[in-house]
Amino acid sequence: FDRFYLGLETQTQRRLTSTISAIKAQAGNNTVTKAKENKTFQAIQEERREQAERSVLISCPPKFNENKFLDYLSKHGTINKHFFYSSYGTYAVVEFSSEESISSLKESTHLPAVEHEAAVPFKSRLLSLKWPGNQMNNQPMPTFQEQSPPSIGDISQLLSEKDSIDEQLQCLTEALQLTEKNINLRFLVCSLLGDIAGAYFPECIIRPFGSTVNGFGKLGCDVDMILDLDGIYATSQKKGSGLSLEYQVKRGASERAVTQSILSVIGKCVDQFGPGCVGVQNILQARCPLVRFSHQPSGFQCDLTANNRVAMKSSELLFIYGQLDPRVRHLVFSVRYWARVHSITSSIPGAWITNFSLTVLVVFFLQQRSPPILPTLDRLTELAGPSDKCVIEGNDCTIVSDLSKITLQKNTDTSAKLLQEFFEFYGNFPFNKASINIRKGKEQSKPETTALYIQNPFETTLNVSKNVNATQLERFVKLCQESAWLFQKSEILNRSSSQSAETVSPWGFSALLLPSVTSGAGVKSRRKRKLEPASSRIKTLLDSLKIKGGETVAKKGSA
Ligand code: CTP
Ligand code: MG
Repeated sequence: FDRFYLGLETQTQRRLTSTISAIKAQAGNNTVTKAKENKTFQAIQEERREQAERSVLISCPPKFNENKFLDYLSKHGTINKHFFYSSYGTYAVVEFSSEESISSLKESTHLPAVEHEAAVPFKSRLLSLKWPGNQMNNQPMPTFQEQSPPSIGDISQLLSEKDSIDEQLQCLTEALQLTEKNINLRFLVCSLLGDIAGAYFPECIIRPFGSTVNGFGKLGCDVDMILDLDGIYATSQKKGSGLSLEYQVKRGASERAVTQSILSVIGKCVDQFGPGCVGVQNILQARCPLVRFSHQPSGFQCDLTANNRVAMKSSELLFIYGQLDPRVRHLVFSVRYWARVHSITSSIPGAWITNFSLTVLVVFFLQQRSPPILPTLDRLTELAGPSDKCVIEGNDCTIVSDLSKITLQKNTDTSAKLLQEFFEFYGNFPFNKASINIRKGKEQSKPETTALYIQNPFETTLNVSKNVNATQLERFVKLCQESAWLFQKSEILNRSSSQSAETVSPWGFSALLLPSVTSGAGVKSRRKRKLEPASSRIKTLLDSLKIKGGETVAKKGSA
């Protein structure tokens, strides 16, 4: 590690230092979770959605004057906030204080004159700023807000400088978590997509769910979206006894068939008319049919689903768990990052454990502490008020929305201790016979023979981790065992006091990110594993830490 950093060219070193300062500044500024503490999940989502409806996304030229740009836009109304980011060009997100400003702005915006092709005249809120060529030079550039996660090299250095493992886990969470502005951009992209889907269903809303809203999103994660056609938050349909009207509707063979047909039409629309939407794929045969595409101006990979209210409820559930105690998010971020660096998870679908499964594993583990750090899902249902009642397709999805009703027991374990115990817990868990059940907060006997059984919190007959095969589960377990081992070594636990801030070796959590000797997917490492006893494997790893750890970490690039 030392050699890697000391050997860097000065210019690269300077760039690295400036990236790290930016991450530090970002970590300090990030108040996403704190500021919203006393609002319900639904209120937070509604507020963000409403802000997005009053916003526009503008592609800007390489050089322009920020003040003149803002003056120009202010003619249409007061600007609440704005920021710039860079993603294959410069973009501005501008939020007005009133929706009327959007209509006014759109009235003064014109369709482009296209010379050799033809334009689809769909007037969206994705605009381009035209700046006179003769006024381009010598303009001060605006500050860009970072939208990508820091590289693993930056993370390792940042963590190595911390004084305790607890500080490392907190710092990792702050460096990786979605920023307020990144969440704004995600809601804006959903809102822009809603305008397209609105051509067919004028009252529809496209809502983000999953890691965009559950408090565990990492910069760069995908945007999961639900096409909400009939008010996801609407309470049960009121049927009066008197005169009433109902809509005549076309019927489909099944709920699934209707969802597939709606998504295929919206997918086509996004593909053909949606500015900036590329690589549209219809994945309609999946258990949960979806349309996948890239939104180029934001750089987001988007998964649009429909008729998926339960997934929004599980996002709310995870959000609540994440809000109850800061250690929850520290643990989830570190376990997910650790798993990603060691290729236990992947963004490509396959037999590996997903981030969602890992999060549920952490929740379950925290329910098992003595005293428990997190309540069971059954407890969250018991605490719910009448307005929290929610039944979706026969599944009781009721959970308390008012977090102040939840009382927690006093558990003073540090995040570092919890992480170590997480590895021990799952390194020894009887996965062959037991299943994970966060509803009861207890392990249950496994209803089927899949390698890993994690009961879906709301659709209780489903297994969240059905995709995981025995090999992938074994890799996870082995890596947990190895990390639990490493956690007991003094070389890992303590930062060497003789090192200066610039030349620290990876220690604590950063040391757990170094390449493993047991988890490699290759045949060679598997053979090696059989031959060597665990203690000598750990020794090899510890030796590699001392000699060349940092080089390997740095070469792996961004996870
Ligand atoms: N989901 C589910 N059952 C699964 C997989 C996913 O109910 N087997 C729901 C969860 O609510 C999850 C959401 O779908 O949060 C989105 O799934 P995914 O994108 O895989 O997970 P995220 O939580 O968004 O995590 P990330 O995208 O960061 O990996
Ligand atoms: Mg996701």
